[in-house]
Amino acid sequence: MDSRPFRSALYIPGSRERAMEKARGLAADAIIFDLEDAVAVDEKAAARTLLAETLASADFGPRAKLVRINGFDTEWGAADLEVIATATPEAILLPKVNSAADIEALANQLDARPETAETRIWAMMETPQGVFNAASIAAAPRMAGFVMGTNDLAKELGCRFRADRLPMQFALQACLMAARAEGLVAVDGVYNAFKDEEGLRAECAQGRDLGFDGKTLIHPAQLDIANAVFAPDDAAIDLARRQIAAFDEATAKGQGVAVVDGKIVENLHIVTARQVLARAEAIAQLQKAM
Ligand code: COA
Ligand code: MG
Repeated sequence: MDSRPFRSALYIPGSRERAMEKARGLAADAIIFDLEDAVAVDEKAAARTLLAETLASADFGPRAKLVRINGFDTEWGAADLEVIATATPEAILLPKVNSAADIEALANQLDARPETAETRIWAMMETPQGVFNAASIAAAPRMAGFVMGTNDLAKELGCRFRADRLPMQFALQACLMAARAEGLVAVDGVYNAFKDEEGLRAECAQGRDLGFDGKTLIHPAQLDIANAVFAPDDAAIDLARRQIAAFDEATAKGQGVAVVDGKIVENLHIVTARQVLARAEAIAQLQKAM
């Protein structure tokens, strides 16, 4: 799996020059430059050109850069790829992916261009077909990550928005499972009420507890909460260190298990503990580079 942190992935409409400029100083682990639903129909062409110029000229530092193009079933998708390819994007985020064939078609186009030899593909998981095909989509060529499109999913399902996201759980878990089976990054959907900090914090915690790497965001005010919730906190780091120390001690005595805080610690817990420390270190490095 990509060892870069993806705690926060901020959407920025490709039409908003000021917001893109601002993003160069924001604490976003990743930026999703959007040409799809955040850009109005009559701004599509201008946004595409502006975004290609911005990506080619502006320095976004260590932030991961994804470009969400329009689907190839729209009148803009082909032109988006044509223009964005010239800016050697590190990843293309394809919306409304239904099957592995959608990814293969894009991968073939990337294969055909020297500028996009290294470009990875991310998939928006936001249709019923996509959720059912999650495993084969995750295994398709160039795939690096899933982004949950929970607004589109809610629209497709006809479900209600609930604080516990009960209607969303099957899709979230099916996609997460598929992503993990292939070692992909998995980023949770957006929280629409961008002024509601408590609601955002609770939804981030739910996504984190499910296993997501981070959350997609729509406003800079959401960054600090996602970054905090998806980072190992001091207690988690302390526990990981104590588990490793206790396990080393047990091993030295010829024992296969240790006990920390009244709970058993086995080999597999040590794998998790080391991941916690590695994530904390990767986050610290990223913050230093910003
Ligand atoms: N990325 C970077 N900067 C952003 C931003 C974003 N997504 N959203 C807002 N900002 C900036 C604004 O440019 C403004 O900066 P400034 O005052 O220095 O010029 C500052 O943050 C405050 O913005 P604010 O006035 O609170 O918000 P707004 O009314 O301009 O915009 C939204 C609100 C929701 C329309 C806007 O945040 C947005 O377009 N978000 C992304 C939507 C999107 O991409 N959706 C697709 C996926 S769901
Ligand atoms: Mg969508």
